This record gives sequence, structure tokens and C-alpha cells, in this order.
Amino acid sequence: MPPTLVYTPEQLLSSRVLAEPLIANGVRCHGGFDADGHYRSPRTLCRAPAIEAWQAQLSEEGHGLLEVPSRAMPPQYPNAAQAKLLLRHGVREPLVRSLTIISIVEGFGAIIRDVQVPDLEELFVEPLSGTALTHLQSGLFEAHARDESGYRDEGGHKQMWEAARDSALENPHIPGDVLMRLMGRRSQGARPAPVFPEIGQPLERMLGFMANVLVVEVFAEETFRWGMDILSDPEVSAAPEIAGDMISYIQADEKPHVEYLRTALSEVSARTIKTVEGGTIPGKQVIDALMHRILEQATRTRPADQRDDLRENLAESIRTATHPSALQDDFDALETPWAPPTRTGFEAAEDAA
Ligand SMILES: [Fe+2]
Ligand SMILES: [Fe+2]
Repeated sequence: MPPTLVYTPEQLLSSRVLAEPLIANGVRCHGGFDADGHYRSPRTLCRAPAIEAWQAQLSEEGHGLLEVPSRAMPPQYPNAAQAKLLLRHGVREPLVRSLTIISIVEGFGAIIRDVQVPDLEELFVEPLSGTALTHLQSGLFEAHARDESGYRDEGGHKQMWEAARDSALENPHIPGDVLMRLMGRRSQGARPAPVFPEIGQPLERMLGFMANVLVVEVFAEETFRWGMDILSDPEVSAAPEIAGDMISYIQADEKPHVEYLRTALSEVSARTIKTVEGGTIPGKQVIDALMHRILEQATRTRPADQRDDLRENLAESIRTATHPSALQDDFDALETPWAPPTRTGFEAAEDAA
């Protein structure tokens, strides 16, 4: 039987029956374990094969899947060696802050369900039937939102990162100003001016949002490596297995997010967009330009933001250590220099212009 390309929202939100639920630090979370003890992500019973089928269709039609280059992934700050150094000296607050920011940002992922999706069938020259694009509003965005922030009585990534943090660092005190500071910085970012006014704001906004989330999701790979390195190290973690496993479950759940987003954006790339003035523009030109802009921005601002966030309180936290000045010097000596790559890989549209 050929793979199905059309799904109902209920199908895209359905989960397989599992043998055992995932309980994280006393909180019931999504996903769980099959009879063989393997972790299974939530809401993937139909979503996983659906994404595979849409990708196969793209490839049969001769189109590739867009790829966010892993060399564009900025390192986490503080790096794992710096974080472990602080923990070995009993200085926990900086890492508690970093992990709390990660859990809050995961929870923010729920806003994807509020993304306005215009009438896409009207906006493309080619048909859209049986694509990921036609399922964004009917299952894909909702599944993504639930995975990030939890749903009803089940925790999601927000609660799973909290559980990893609290088990590894033994229920640390959480500074009360983490959320406020994060909100302060986010509200400073003005909405960018449209790059393609000719495709209309609703479509550009939706595509820009999706491209942004895709980049965040791909860059999260580095956060998982970093988190597992630190929290599964028995020298600094009180629950190396529990915390390391928890991060690996979150990592597994992110796969469908990366895959449906890159599939839908590639479907746009493979098509022609109707302009508001009655002309057309290749979808690839729009997607490449959006990806280029977002990657350039993310590789510059993200490392700087993380560094600023951490260093704001670092000196004060280090003061609690036995030899604060030596620790600060050792911390700085472990810093790994990083520069964003000179090219994002999405310059084609620009070069052609
Ligand atoms: Fe997530
Ligand atoms: Fe995600």
C-alpha cells in the first residue's frame, strides 16, 4: 500500500500504547517506554510516518530537503568544561540559571500553535494536496506545542529539563529573576521589516517564524550534547543516569520538529508563490533569503546573549567559592573562541541578485 499523505489532526496527535509512562522527578511526562524498555516519543504514531511520506514525495518530485549546516551551530556558554569547573567548586547558580532558561524557552515553544496560517492553497501556483504544509494548522503545530510545554496532566520538555536540572543538582534554589530578565531581553527585539512585501505579510510572517524555530531546533543539538556531557558526569551530577537519560528523551522528541519544519519549508522552496500584485516569485528565493537572514542573526546574537546572561551574575556567584579570583581566572582560561561561519549556505538568492 502506498504511504498515506493525508492525515486528520487526531491522527497526527495520536500516540502509541506504551508499557510504562515516563515519570520525571515525580512529574508524569509525555512519552514512555515500550515493552522492550525503549523510550518512545509522544504523538508520533502517525506523525513520524506522515513526515517520512511527505519527504519521500518531495524527493520523488526531484526536490531536496533544506539543511541547516551544523557548522553554524554556536557553542553553549558556559562550555561544559567551564560549567563543571564551577560545579566542582560548589558554584551552582550559573548552571542553574542556564538550565532554567532552557526550560523556559522550551515552554515558550507552545506559541507555535498561535501562528497565523493564511489560506495557503490561494498563495501558491502549484497544488498543495498531500503536503506537510496543509497539515500545519491541522495537527503539526499543535503536536509541536504540546511536546514543548506539556499538555493537560502530562509534562513536556519544559518539565523534563526542570527534572534533569533538579535531579542532577539536587533541587537547587532557582533564582527568582530568570524569567523576568529573559522577557526583558526578548521584548527589546523589534519585529524585522519585511524582506518580501510582494508575498504579503501573513505568509512572510509564518515562513519567517517557522524558519526561526527550525534554526532554534537544530541549534538545540548542541545544547543536548552540552547538557548530557555535564549532567551525566558523576563527578558533578547527583543523578548522572536519570538526568542524562532525560535529556536524551527530549532530544529524541525534537526529531519530528526538525523534520516537519524542514519538510514544509522545502515544499515552499519547490513551489512558486503568487505575489499580491498578480505576479509570481520562486519559493526557493524567499526561503533561502529568510534562512540566510535568520542564520546570520542567530549565529551572532545567540552566543553574545548567552555570554551576557551568564556573566552578569558570574562574579557574584564565584565570590562564594573558597578562592574566587583563582576560580574566575581558571574559568576564563577554559573559554573556547568561536566565530560564526562566513557563509550561511543560503546565499544563492543573494548571489543571483
Ligand atoms: Fe523541545
Ligand atoms: Fe522542539
